Amino acid sequence: MRNYKLSEKVFASAVLIVLGIGFFLAFVYLYASEIQPHHQKGQDLLKGVATTYYGDRSTNRLESALHGKMAENVSHEELAKIHTWIQGGATKAGYAEVAPIVTENCATCHDAAGDPPQITNFEQLHGLVQYDTGVEIHTLARMSHVHLLGIPLLFFMLGSFFVRTRWREGLKAVLVAMPFFGVLFDIAHWWITKRYESAALGIIFGGATMGLGFAGQWWLTAAELWLPERIVVHWRWLLPKSE
Ligand code: HEC
Repeated sequence: MRNYKLSEKVFASAVLIVLGIGFFLAFVYLYASEIQPHHQKGQDLLKGVATTYYGDRSTNRLESALHGKMAENVSHEELAKIHTWIQGGATKAGYAEVAPIVTENCATCHDAAGDPPQITNFEQLHGLVQYDTGVEIHTLARMSHVHLLGIPLLFFMLGSFFVRTRWREGLKAVLVAMPFFGVLFDIAHWWITKRYESAALGIIFGGATMGLGFAGQWWLTAAELWLPERIVVHWRWLLPKSE
């Protein structure tokens, strides 16, 4: 790569710059859409990831509203009645018990379709008792194939330059494999987490492997392309023994 012609160096540099910016923005997006909102709810990274894929099956929309924003619209007694109804399976037969509460306490505001949700009858109230089971399967399938078919192309672009650098072969072999392994591991664990909450750790591990592999290849390729020889020779431990 040191002996690249000018056009080849420009080509490699252009790829590095665009991929670098893209990768950085992907991090910003991930932070803003996945990490920050969960953080605001007091969840750490692991819990946040688990909530995205597994959901939060400890509560449902109705109960979390009644214990939160909507708390002032029910008395203790009414809350207990609604709770009993939910515990009993939120059945149509049992709805008669809670129907007066809905009519008197909720329907005044929740009378129209849209957001906030309409709450005037059994079906609508029942719809709010569904547990949050995380991202839906068809969304997961779409995300999976888009990621699997798209992201490795970027790793291919970066890797095809990186393997031509002159760093240690063992190091290059590991770094060039890491993002491919990471993306597979990551996506496999999306599916496993959908079923088992604890697999969320695998998503973080896969993502980190992908990120570290990418970053390592990026820096080492950039160093070879752009850094003066007198600096690079100090990085002996990264170079083959013969150099
Ligand atoms: C004074 C008007 C008012 C009354 C009475 C009221 N709500 Fe609400 N409710 C709202 C508004 C406004 C929102 C949207 C608030 C928001 O999202 O910040 C809302 C949101 C909700 C949500 C959705 C929360 C979410 O985003 O998941 C649920 C569920 C809910 N209310 C249930 C009820 C129930 C059950 C009752 C009766 C016990 C009730 N509300 C009574 C005004 C009311």
